[in-house]
Amino acid sequence: MIYLKTLEEIELMQQAGILLSRTLGEIAKWVAPGVTTHKLDAVAREFIHDNGGRPSCLGYEGFPGAVCMEVNEVVVHGFPSNYTLREGDIIGTDCVVELNGVNADMCYTFAVGEIAPEVLRLCQVTKESLYKGIHACRVGHRIGDIANAVQTYCESRGYTVVREMCGHGIGRRMHEDPQVPNYGRRGTGPLIKNGMCLAIEPMINLGSRNIVIESDGWTCRTKDRKPSAHYEHTVALVDDEPRVLTTFEYIEEVLGDRFI
Ligand code: MF3
Ligand code: CO
Repeated sequence: MIYLKTLEEIELMQQAGILLSRTLGEIAKWVAPGVTTHKLDAVAREFIHDNGGRPSCLGYEGFPGAVCMEVNEVVVHGFPSNYTLREGDIIGTDCVVELNGVNADMCYTFAVGEIAPEVLRLCQVTKESLYKGIHACRVGHRIGDIANAVQTYCESRGYTVVREMCGHGIGRRMHEDPQVPNYGRRGTGPLIKNGMCLAIEPMINLGSRNIVIESDGWTCRTKDRKPSAHYEHTVALVDDEPRVLTTFEYIEEVLGDRFI
């Protein structure tokens, strides 16, 4: 069942989106060699609480953190841990904030110091593919148009698309219908309508598309242990157009002239 939101609800989700975007901006200040992923989680948790929000992932089906930590080959759903970031790592931080009863969902993959050029390129293309997906997200199009835009952009550049994990509808619950895959055919899937709110989140691999779930039941990594990148925005359909409710601008302020 796809729930269409009123403008009032979308306005509330925008507020959640701003708090979430500012939270990832706080994380950006801490990403550096020698910092644990626990520390990044603690920074986010405190900032969300101090601003009246709730980290929706914490305790969700037993998930132990406020933020999913995606180091190098981890695709999604890694736990915060004592792992210490090293020069050359990439780390995706994926977080959901609930504020006034509604959610926003966002992910950004950071570089830790200098990273290999091929990994930087993977991250750039993945981020660009998110905007290709958002551009295809228009009233009258279908979910398959978003999926196909992401897939075509990434595969034509030699990367692979994770199939088992998808974007999703979002609102009062963090995961709602419909699923938003990152692969598929144009003109297929549910029709996009005003009031839909979608989390669009390409998960793109440098090597093969295959993944495995670790024995903790959560951590999803590439089978070949090559790196995976992940960027995500929450988008609402207003007046036939996509309105992006989250923003990377707080992160970009911290990064300055660094690319990611
Ligand atoms: N953005 C992630 C997703 O859509 C958030 C997961 S939170 C978790 O899957 F608790 F499930 F990890
Ligand atoms: Co999501």
